[in-house]
Amino acid sequence: MSNAVYLIFGATGDLARRKLFPAFYALYREGKLAENFAVVGLARRPRSNEQFRDDLLRSIQEFARYDVSKDEKWNQFASHFEYLSLDINNVDGFRELKGLTDSLDQKFDVGGNRLFYLALAPELFGSVAHNLRAGGLLEVDGWHRLVIEKPFGYDLPSAQKLNDEIRQVFREKDVYRIDHYLGKEMVQNIGVLRFGNAFFEPLWNNKYIANMQITLSETVGVEDRGGYYDHSGALRDMAQNHMLQMLAIMAMEPPSRLNPEDLRDEKVKVFRSLRGYQSPDEVRAHVVRGQYVAGEANGKHLPAYRDEPSVDANSTTETYFAAKVFVDNFRWAGVPFYIRTGKRLPVKTTEVVVEFKNVPNNVYLAQKNDLQPNLLVFRINPMEGIYMKMNAKRPGSEGTVIPIAMDFCQSCQVGLNTPEAYERLLYDAARGDSTYFTRWDEVSLAWEFIDKIAAAWSESSHDLATYPAGSWGPERAHQLLADDGFKWWPVNGQHEGEVVWATNLG
Ligand code: BG6
Repeated sequence: MSNAVYLIFGATGDLARRKLFPAFYALYREGKLAENFAVVGLARRPRSNEQFRDDLLRSIQEFARYDVSKDEKWNQFASHFEYLSLDINNVDGFRELKGLTDSLDQKFDVGGNRLFYLALAPELFGSVAHNLRAGGLLEVDGWHRLVIEKPFGYDLPSAQKLNDEIRQVFREKDVYRIDHYLGKEMVQNIGVLRFGNAFFEPLWNNKYIANMQITLSETVGVEDRGGYYDHSGALRDMAQNHMLQMLAIMAMEPPSRLNPEDLRDEKVKVFRSLRGYQSPDEVRAHVVRGQYVAGEANGKHLPAYRDEPSVDANSTTETYFAAKVFVDNFRWAGVPFYIRTGKRLPVKTTEVVVEFKNVPNNVYLAQKNDLQPNLLVFRINPMEGIYMKMNAKRPGSEGTVIPIAMDFCQSCQVGLNTPEAYERLLYDAARGDSTYFTRWDEVSLAWEFIDKIAAAWSESSHDLATYPAGSWGPERAHQLLADDGFKWWPVNGQHEGEVVWATNLG
């Protein structure tokens, strides 16, 4: 990892505590962070360096993959961390920050590199970028990178404005927009599995694939984020970014070279090929918008979304989103991509299911039971692995055909201690590898697609369907697939009950 001073804006916030500091620690423990680095924690509230380092220790003890105790090694690590209370709108504070940053640069022999990490509300990005320049923080030889968190805007115009503000100060190649799903092990593995295996690529098209299903389900409600979420909803919180990114990786052409621009160019082509919904009726026919009402899970009562803290009692914000999406290009003409996400669903899981078409003129169709379609499942989270469902003859039986499974469970093999998305992304940003960060053209095209749905919804709220908390979402989401002769395949290992394992055969 490069030598750098890392400036963390929003250092007392949840993201820093849960993800960033543990990521720094894991990288340090793995030798990916050498000694030539410093971290400046920035937030408004006053804190001494000692208090800040105590908070740091607590966050690492609670959330890091590695155990830590307050010994000499810890003191060595913690000595790289300093805190400064900063008012983001006051340029004088930035001048003071420059003094501190330059002295840390000298102390740790960093060489001028700066990584500015904005774990802040996006409304503040513009002021920070402006004051970084005004405060002289960019007047030093070395690289200067800006890492920003989602949400990147509320719609295309607001994202454009945000981007313009940032780009007045930073070049596109120095802006690292985080979509933490791109940092997940199995999301990065999709490309390798697709393009590194002879038996997938030839089948990866509308001749052989019937549909794809992307599920990103969560059991949590909105917790303490009601204020943010009620303004955002599942469409903006999950679909605009994580879901469309996964769809793009599943659908893209192989990049001709493995570099950040070539790979992102391929995703952009997918975004350009997304069929935009042309009218509210089309949105109604292809998109399901749902909100949870009271329900229960594991015998526990769960409140309705409208009764959650900081949520409007008459809110029409969606906590569930499902859609049928088409990628109008040569490879995917006619293949539906079904995507769904929601809060308060029965399991926490992210999976991509590829359903293959039936073989033509199948001689086994007349056997005692129906052939099931072949499935290829990418298990992204929390289980990591790939799973294939096939048809086979039950040994010894009179030609009964049964579904069997091949399952590669990555998280079972190497243990669940695989690097966290944020470790990988922080490491990549520090090395200047933007492959798994989103480029402006991707973000803007994704907004263009999403804005059409939001516009249709704002015209009428009557199509907000409800679902009991703890259930699999509104009935309409099932109908969406049933109308095409498909169904949502079970996720999270729930296929097991319906297939026979190779070892159980006979
Ligand atoms: C975030 C959303 O981007 O992703 C949250 O804002 C959501 O609402 C989270 O809970 C899900 O991420 P993960 O990694 O836990 O699946």
